[in-house]
Parts: sequence; C-alpha cells; structure tokens
Amino acid sequence: MFKFSCYSYKRIQSGFVFRIQLMHTLHVVGARPNFMKAAPVLRALEAHSKTLQIPLRQTLVHTGQHYDAAMSGVFFQQLEMPKPDFNLGVGSGTHAQQTAAVMLAIEPVLLESKPDLVLVYGDVNSTVAAAMVCSKLGIRVGHVEAGLRSGDRTMPEEINRLLTDQISDLLFTPSPDGDENLLREGIDRAKIHHVGNVMIDTLVRLLPRAEQHFLSGIPTPYALVTLHRPANVDDLPWLRELLETLADLSSQLHIIFPVHPRTRQRIDHLGSQSGLNGRLRLMEPQPYLEFLALQRHAAIVITDSGGIQEETSFLGVPCLTVRENTERPITTSHGTNQLVGRDLNRLREAAAVIIKQISNGRASSQVKFPEASRVPLWDGHAAERIAKIVMTKIVVTKIVVTKIIASGSAE
Ligand code: UD1
Repeated sequence: MFKFSCYSYKRIQSGFVFRIQLMHTLHVVGARPNFMKAAPVLRALEAHSKTLQIPLRQTLVHTGQHYDAAMSGVFFQQLEMPKPDFNLGVGSGTHAQQTAAVMLAIEPVLLESKPDLVLVYGDVNSTVAAAMVCSKLGIRVGHVEAGLRSGDRTMPEEINRLLTDQISDLLFTPSPDGDENLLREGIDRAKIHHVGNVMIDTLVRLLPRAEQHFLSGIPTPYALVTLHRPANVDDLPWLRELLETLADLSSQLHIIFPVHPRTRQRIDHLGSQSGLNGRLRLMEPQPYLEFLALQRHAAIVITDSGGIQEETSFLGVPCLTVRENTERPITTSHGTNQLVGRDLNRLREAAAVIIKQISNGRASSQVKFPEASRVPLWDGHAAERIAKIVMTKIVVTKIVVTKIIASGSAE
C-alpha cells in the first residue's frame, strides 16, 4: 500500500485498485462531562487508523458551553487532549440561547470542514445542538452514550437525549438498557452498537496517575458531595434543607464538597440562610485527577451527577444519588448506587449504614453497601470498539474503485 496526501491506495490480488479517501471525523464537546468521554475516542480513532493505514483527519470543536479554567482548561491538560481546532465561545445563557448559539456558530464550521462523521457526546445542550445542525446538513452523526433514559422529561438532559438519538446515524450505548430504550423508540437495530462506557476508559487509564493527586490535608474518613442539578440547586428552600442535612451529617463524618459554579451562585444567594456551617468543607471544582482520587478514597459519595454514579460503581464506592430517578439504572442493579430521591430521611438512613460500619472500625475502602458486580463492557476498551465500528462504516462508503488492472502494477 502507498499513500498520497489525502488518499491511500490499496491493490488487491484480483487486480482492482481501491482508492480510500482521507476520512474526516469531527468531535463536538462543550461541557465538563464531555471531555473525559471524547478523549479516549480521539485516541482510539488515531491508533486504529494507524493500524489500518487509513488516513484520518480529526477536528475537535469546543462549543465553549463551559469556559472556566476549572471547568474546562484543566481537563484538556490532564486528559492530554489536543487543543480544540475551533472554540465557539458560546458561554452561558438560557437553554434556548445556549442551544441556538451553538447551532449558529457550528453551522459554518461544518459547512467549511465537511466531515464524514460528527461525533457528539452525552446529553448536554451542545450535544443536541450540534446533532440538529448536522442532521439538516445531511452530515452523519454518531452519538456516544446513546440510549440512556431517566423517563423524566422535566430534566433538560432527557430532552437532549431523546432528540439526539432520534436523529443520529450511529448510536453507541454504554449498557443493554440503552439498546432496549432505543428499540422501544423505533430506532433501527442496525444503527445501535453496544460498546460499553467510554468514561470508564478514561478512569481505567488515569486511575494510577490519580493516586498521586490526592489533595493534602483531606481529613479521613469523609463523604464526598457534588450537587448541580437544577432540581436540587435552583429550588432554594430545598437546597437549604439539603445543606442543613449535610451539615448535620458532618458531625459524624467529614464532608468534602467541591462546588459547581451554578451551585456556588445559589449558595451565595442564600447567604447566611444557606444552612452551612464550618464543618462542611466547600472547595472549588476539582480537576479530573484530583476528583478521581477523592472518589477513590471516599467512604461514601453523595451526588446528583450521572457520571459519578457510574464512576463510583466501577470503583466500588457507595453512592447515594439525590434524585428520584436515574438514566443509569445499571448503577443500581449492578453498581453501588442507591437513589434516595428528595427524601432527607432516606439520605440520613442510608448514610447512617456507612457511618455505623466506619465507627465499628471498618476502613473506608472496606465499607459494603451494596456489593457491586462488574458491568459488562465497562472494561477500558469501549473507545476501541467505537473506533472499529466508525472506521468500518465510514471507510466502506469512501472506497472508490479507481481502476481494474490487467497485469498487476498499480497506478
Ligand atoms: C451542564 C449540563 C449538565 C451537566 C453539567 C456538568 C446541560 C443542559 N446541562 O449543566 O447536563 O451535568 O453541565 O457540569 O447542558 N458556569 C460557570 N463557568 C463555567 C460554566 C458554567 O460559571 O465554565 C455557570 C454559569 O453561570 C452558568 C451555570 O454555571 O449559567 C450553569 O452552566 P450550564 O452550562 O448552563 O449548565 P450546567 O449546570 O453546568
């Protein structure tokens, strides 16, 4: 095989010459949880194209939905992601403003760069906005983390998931429930690929490094807390009750709480009414490695995040989710996750199970609640499976038979 700038030629024995055009994938990321999902896919596509000797161009577009260094820049460094080729700088706004801003800004980029496939990640506003523009331009879309459903249409992410999946051409699901949801919604089975969890790929790769990033001065044992869902933090009376409950728990277990910017604004708004007291340790949002180390060594995690339900399940760390539902039911059936809903007594009772084990002398790493079992395909290789599927599906459509040769020498 030999290569020119944007084509590679393959001659096969029968005498056909195939021309494989340069393949171009464009990745769209926007908000914090997208970065750890895109990083392994970029790497796997690069590696797979080298193995197959198929020329590949990759373009990375950052919509700028998250823009603070602590929410974005530091993740690019730690995940060793390439600098984005485009930063659309859309920033914050209402859902309509943010979604529309991404759509307006990404359309010229897509028209100019003409990718063969656009990969979108997760369920944030940037995901659905990019998918909609591609769909209208006739550009194929692959959705990484397809098929997850909470069944709760009051969550903005649920709307983003439903719409993105309906208009995607390749749907990469992390767990079997994703496949079932998509089939129930009438998606063609041929588009659905159960590949596993790309977020776990990043965790597996970086966990050894994270051990060196455990923050000094963290008192043990501790509960790690994150809260950022509008249903929890935009409802100020509820947020106040939640903070008071955490403050109560902190008399028995240290509480470490890296605070999302949305939540910080709401806590500032509550001011002295926030129910906080000095025993709750609030800190800035943490970089990927520092946060992973905090999860790894926590006695328990209290959260409303989706990704953290998955990471704690993989790590075997007990997780209490302050939501009525989850789009990741596999974390409750196979993992360590328990939904406590909007019921502070359930939160207290579930935390008490852990606190009791710790006061009986059990180390944080040995707390049992409940036993986790491995989720199939959460093995660190999901992105490789995606890369193989992408290369097969896209390259096949780009192969052009250029010449049938009689005597054997390729042109
Ligand atoms: C978004 C995603 C959510 C994801 C979360 C992870 C949607 C609908 N929501 O929620 O699914 O779990 O990201 O963090 O896409 N802000 C900053 N600096 C930043 C980014 C945001 O200060 O770098 C503040 C802004 O005031 C902004 C608020 O945080 O208004 C919320 O940000 P936004 O992107 O709108 O939603 P998230 O709550 O972060």
